[in-house]
Amino acid sequence: MPYSHILFQVEESGIALLTVNRPEKLNALSGALIAELADAFGRVAGEPAIRAAILTGAGEKAFVAGADIRELAALSPYAARAFALRGQAVFRQLETCGKPSVAAVNGFALGGGLELAMACTVRFASDNAKLGQPEVKLGIIPGYGGTQRLPRLVGRGRALELLLAGDPIPAAEAYRIGLVNAVVARAELLDYCRAWLGKVLANGPLALGLVLDAVDSGLDSGLEEGLRFEAAAFGISAATEDCREGTRAFLEKRRAAFTGK
Ligand code: COA
Repeated sequence: MPYSHILFQVEESGIALLTVNRPEKLNALSGALIAELADAFGRVAGEPAIRAAILTGAGEKAFVAGADIRELAALSPYAARAFALRGQAVFRQLETCGKPSVAAVNGFALGGGLELAMACTVRFASDNAKLGQPEVKLGIIPGYGGTQRLPRLVGRGRALELLLAGDPIPAAEAYRIGLVNAVVARAELLDYCRAWLGKVLANGPLALGLVLDAVDSGLDSGLEEGLRFEAAAFGISAATEDCREGTRAFLEKRRAAFTGK
């Protein structure tokens, strides 16, 4: 699918750099843009050469300033429900694809923009970033997972504070409450993300997928089931060539060369 609203580039390291590219509207998520994200996330999930993704926004001001309010304003109740379900499914595809994703939050991450960032594995923010769920100021509620992922990330009290007042918070405060994993200078943001992913991707690829799966399934199902899942996944990881290579490399005092088998 040719893209008009995103840039998608697979770097030599296997990292897909996805830039939401609608800077004149602060990268607001239109329906057409969501369709392109769906296609791009399908590529991230399906192409073996892509091992991880970085999401960022074009321009100086915004990561993504939310769903497109002009489109939202015209939705009937049923269309609005379908709109929410569609966005949720698209974000969920990225979240569950088994590959790490990083939100490089380079400016405003509001509404659907913060929801997109929260669907990524981790969030790194530039020092100028502002994050929030301002939907209630428009008389609506978040529809792309904000009421669910925000409390899981920062706890119920802080999530409700953000969701009910609707005021954005600066990057430093987002870091303090655990909404972003680090705050870095804007000029260094993408390289910081690449460096973190570089460390991650040096590890066993199958183990990475199993960790993502174990954490998410445990959070969804509770401790007992999560522990059972972890034990089963541990068993699977012990049966891989990567496990043999990783343990042998440690004993031979060399770097492991993982093959993802
Ligand atoms: N949907 C549609 N268009 C949006 C948008 C959104 N979520 N966010 C920004 N834009 C558009 C503006 O309408 C404006 O378009 P115009 O030049 O055609 O008038 C352009 O992007 C620039 O935004 P502007 O508001 O002029 O920039 P600013 O620096 O003064 O303010 C924000 C920046 C982020 C504070 C402000 O744009 C804003 O509050 N956006 C909406 C955030 C929101 O409520 N998101 C949740 C949506 S559910």
